Amino acid sequence: MATTLSLSPLSGGLLLRSPRNIRVRCSAERQALFSRIAPVYDNLNDLLSLGQHRTWKRMSVSWSGAKKGDRVLDLCCGSGDLAFLLSEKVGPDGEVIALDFSREQLSIASTRQDLFWKACYKNIEWVEGDALNMPFTDCYFDAITMGYGLRNVIDKQKSMQEIFRVLKPGSRVSILDFNKATSSAVSFIQGWAIDNMVVPVASLYGLSGEYEYLKVSIAEFLTGEELEKLATEVGFSNANHYEIGGGLMGNLVATRPTA
Ligand SMILES: C[S@@+](CC[C@H](N)C(=O)[O-])C[C@H]1O[C@@H](n2cnc3c(N)ncnc32)[C@H](O)[C@@H]1O
Repeated sequence: MATTLSLSPLSGGLLLRSPRNIRVRCSAERQALFSRIAPVYDNLNDLLSLGQHRTWKRMSVSWSGAKKGDRVLDLCCGSGDLAFLLSEKVGPDGEVIALDFSREQLSIASTRQDLFWKACYKNIEWVEGDALNMPFTDCYFDAITMGYGLRNVIDKQKSMQEIFRVLKPGSRVSILDFNKATSSAVSFIQGWAIDNMVVPVASLYGLSGEYEYLKVSIAEFLTGEELEKLATEVGFSNANHYEIGGGLMGNLVATRPTA
């Protein structure tokens, strides 16, 4: 059941020691994983992408077509980066709903909302819920973003069907994630960077197991072409996947047809 949260700040940067051979198959295990990494997630994103994730997120929000006064959804919002960008796009007359199933991630998002206070940020509502069974009526949103979420949901088709259901006809979804590259050079660089940079840095925080999952999840993800096919199968039109960040990242943009 979804809960709208009025969250208080996390009580501190407690790091949980990662168990060996972390299992992340089912939704509950993924939820637990994202809750464990929540305290260091933002710092690691900045460090590991050298701040580039901010540019990719701006591009993704821009591709969503969100505009002043819109009601928009940021799915799998985590600590809220895309929700804050959407908030600036839709302005005080708009509305941003940001959904995630990790209470810890939402708690950090809510704390950041207070810290980086901007008048428009009042338009964001944090909702604890499941991307596979969203607590919204059909045709409710003018635009949807999903950053690094689709790769992590247990059922990608169901997730796309839910996005389609809650999106208004004529509106767009913009989905940013790691690119499952078809180029062997790019996938070699991606794998090398995860093994030799991401996991060692994460291990300094006791989270190597959690970040080893990243490589597995990219390997199990869909290529750009497969993402376009999935979007089309659930009913979207104009499904286009763009490679960004030298092919390391990708962004799917798809429109719900008007009829
Ligand atoms: C890698 S983080 C991305 C956070 C944020 N969007 C960003 O780009 O920084 C993935 C998020 O997806 C959330 N998530 C994964 N599966 C979910 C589901 N079925 N329902 C809701 N949230 C989910 C996790 O809790 C986590 O916060």
